[in-house]
Amino acid sequence: MERPNWAPGDIDLERPSVARVYDCWLGGAHNFAADRAAAQKTLEAMPELRGVVLNHRALLRRAVWYLLGQGVRQFLDLGSGIPTVGNVHEIAQSADAGARVVYVDIDPVAVAHSRSLLNGNGRVSVLQADVRDFEGVLTSQEVGAQLDFDEPIAVLMIALLHFVPDEEDPRGIIAGYRDRLAPGSFLAISHAGYEAGEEPPASREARKIYDSSVTPITLRDKTQLTGLLEGFSLVEPGVVRVPAWRPESPDDVEGSGKRFPGFAAIGRKA
Ligand SMILES: C[S@@+](CC[C@H](N)C(=O)[O-])C[C@H]1O[C@@H](n2cnc3c(N)ncnc32)[C@H](O)[C@@H]1O
Repeated sequence: MERPNWAPGDIDLERPSVARVYDCWLGGAHNFAADRAAAQKTLEAMPELRGVVLNHRALLRRAVWYLLGQGVRQFLDLGSGIPTVGNVHEIAQSADAGARVVYVDIDPVAVAHSRSLLNGNGRVSVLQADVRDFEGVLTSQEVGAQLDFDEPIAVLMIALLHFVPDEEDPRGIIAGYRDRLAPGSFLAISHAGYEAGEEPPASREARKIYDSSVTPITLRDKTQLTGLLEGFSLVEPGVVRVPAWRPESPDDVEGSGKRFPGFAAIGRKA
C-alpha cells in the first residue's frame, strides 16, 4: 500500500488504530483501508455510531466553552485524536488569544497531523505519549513549556477512558493528574456506557467487532463514572448522558438523550 506523505514511517498501515477509525466515523481523511474497513463493519452493526461520535465532539465544544466561562485558560487534552473541526485551541484562542493547550495522544498519525496543523502557534504543544504514564506526561518538556501548575488547568478526557480497563487503574491515573492540579482546576470526561441491562444487541455486536479488530472497550455506567471523578466536586448537571450535559438547545437531547450510549461530567478540584 502506498504511504501518504503525512503518515509517519514507523506505523503499521494494516492494523486499524483507535484514532484513525474515529477519524473515519467523523468523516476525516487521515485513515487507511484497514481503518476504513473496521469503521465500516462497526457502522453496519450499529449505524447510529456516527451520531454518537458527533455527540462526543459537540460535548467537547460545550465543555471548553463552559471552562472558558469559569476563567480557565490552560487545557491539557488527553487522547486528543486526529484534529478535526472545532479543536480545543481553536475554541479557546477564539475566546482569548493567550489560551494555552497541550494535546496528548498515543497515535503517531494524530500527533503528526496535530503538529503540522499547529506549526507556528506558540501557545500550543503536541506530545506523543501514553496518558496512563501521568508522570511522563506531567514532566514532559511540552507540558512544562505551556502549562503553569500554579494556575487552574482543565484536563480533558473526552471519549478516552473506555480504552483504560479497570486492571489498569483508571482511578489511580486520574489521581496522578488531579494531585498536580491547583485548586480551581477541572476534569472533563465523556465515556461510553449504559445503565445496567440497557445495552442493545446492535451495540454488543459493534463492540465485539471493535474489540477484536481495533482495541477493547470498557463500558462504564453512571455510578462507575461518578467513582472516577473522586476528589472533584461535580458541576451541574452532574453525571448525565452526553447530549444532556448543558445542551445548547432542546434538540440536542431530543430522542438520543435518554438511551444515549455514554455519559459526561465535569468536576472541579476544591
Ligand atoms: C475516541 S478518540 C477521541 C478523540 C478526541 N478526544 C475527541 O473527542 O474527538 C480516543 C483517542 O484516545 C487516544 N488514546 C487511546 N488510548 C490512549 C492512551 N493510553 N494514551 C494516549 N492516547 C490514547 C486514541 O489514539 C484516540 O486518538
